[in-house]
Order: sequence, then C-alpha cells, then structure tokens
Amino acid sequence: MDEQAFWQLIRGRRSIRRYQEREVPVTIVWRVLEAAHWAPSAHNRQPWRFAVIPRGPRRERLARDLAERWVADLVQDGVPPQEARARAERSYRRLTQAPVLILVALSMKDMDRYPDARRQAAEHTMAVQSVAMAGQNLLLAAHHYGLAACWLCAPLFAGDLILSLLQLPSDWEPQGFVTLGYPAEERQKGRAPLTDRVIFLDAEG
Ligand SMILES: Cc1cc2nc3c(=O)[nH]c(=O)nc-3n(C[C@H](O)[C@H](O)[C@H](O)COP(=O)(O)O)c2cc1C
Repeated sequence: MDEQAFWQLIRGRRSIRRYQEREVPVTIVWRVLEAAHWAPSAHNRQPWRFAVIPRGPRRERLARDLAERWVADLVQDGVPPQEARARAERSYRRLTQAPVLILVALSMKDMDRYPDARRQAAEHTMAVQSVAMAGQNLLLAAHHYGLAACWLCAPLFAGDLILSLLQLPSDWEPQGFVTLGYPAEERQKGRAPLTDRVIFLDAEG
C-alpha cells in the first residue's frame, strides 16, 4: 500500500450514519469481521464476540426496547419526555434502517483470572482494549470496501436487555453496535492539533 492509500484509509474513514438501501454482500460482512479478528489482543485470547443482527422483527423489537429504556433514562435525567422520545425515535430509525447491524461484545471466558479486584479490573480493561482494537480494524476494513460505518455505544447501557432479547451466551458483555452500509451522506470531521495531545519528553529526567 502506498503512502497516499494508507492516509486515505486512515483519514478518509468517517462515522457515517445514513446509508443507501443497497444490501451489503454477506461475503463483505465476513471480510470486515475477519479484519476485526486479526486485531491484537491481550495474551492473544481474542475476547471479541460479534453477532450480526438481520433486519426484521427481531431487530425492530430490540431497537424498540432499547429506545424505551433510553426514554426512561433521559426522563429520569430531567429531559422533557417529548424531547426524550424524539431522540429515542432517531436511534430506533438508525438501528432498524441500517443494512447491517453488528453487536460487538467481549467475553472474559478465556482471559486470566486474579484473586484480587485491582488486577481483575486491569484484566477486564485489557479485554475492553482488545475489543476496541478489533472495532477499529472493522471500521477501517469497512472503509476499505467502500462501506460506511458508525460505532454506537447504546449496548453499554443495556447489556442485560440485549443478551436476553438476542438469546446470546451469558458471558457476552455488549460493548457497542456497528452499523454498516453504503454511504448516503458525506461528513467532514477535524481533529484538535496533535501537539495538544502529545508530550515528547527529554531523555534527562
Ligand atoms: C466508543 C465510541 C462510542 C461512540 N458512540 C456513538 C454513538 O452512540 N452514536 C453516534 O452517532 N456516534 C458514536 N460514535 C462515533 C463518534 O461520534 C465519532 O467517531 C466522532 O464524532 C469522530 O468522528 P469520525 O469517526 O467521523 O472521525 C462513537 C465512537 C466511539 C469511538
């Protein structure tokens, strides 16, 4: 891959939330999942899990239940019910309309176990970091195949509901959704100056 193609891949990827109706070939879905599976992971335990959720009644029920829970949370936060419902409705449409919806989860099943809470928390963070790296591979692969994608954090707030509705193994911990499809919008996003985020230290302490 030449320099220009590399930077196009890295900088050209955007979180895109509107998609064409066009179906995504299942072979491409497998390719992006394979890219995710090649991410680095703590102890190479590959703690990521993926569930591809087809469009249809099951996805609609899931999106409806998530929206209802979100409305309840927002209203409890003091958001006016009408506004809460409008926000949840947008989220419902995004989840139900995306050509492909993937649940990204983690499992601690193959990770190390520690007797103390401090190291166990670190081990769990390692699994989260591994799954996040798989997520980034997935997003970049999607971009490579001309697809648009967006990571959504909703599953973090409703893991129990998602596991029971989708009848997934109880060790799965939902981390996010990825919506995928051919793009129906363009987005520009900038970044803060890199120098605001980096410190180069002196060799002398
Ligand atoms: C952990 C994480 C959670 C996110 N959750 C959401 C979300 O719930 N809804 C959404 O529209 N975008 C979500 N995004 C996408 C971000 O808004 C997006 O990455 C950011 O605005 C930068 O835009 P870019 O991806 O186009 O560079 C999330 C991204 C990450 C990494």
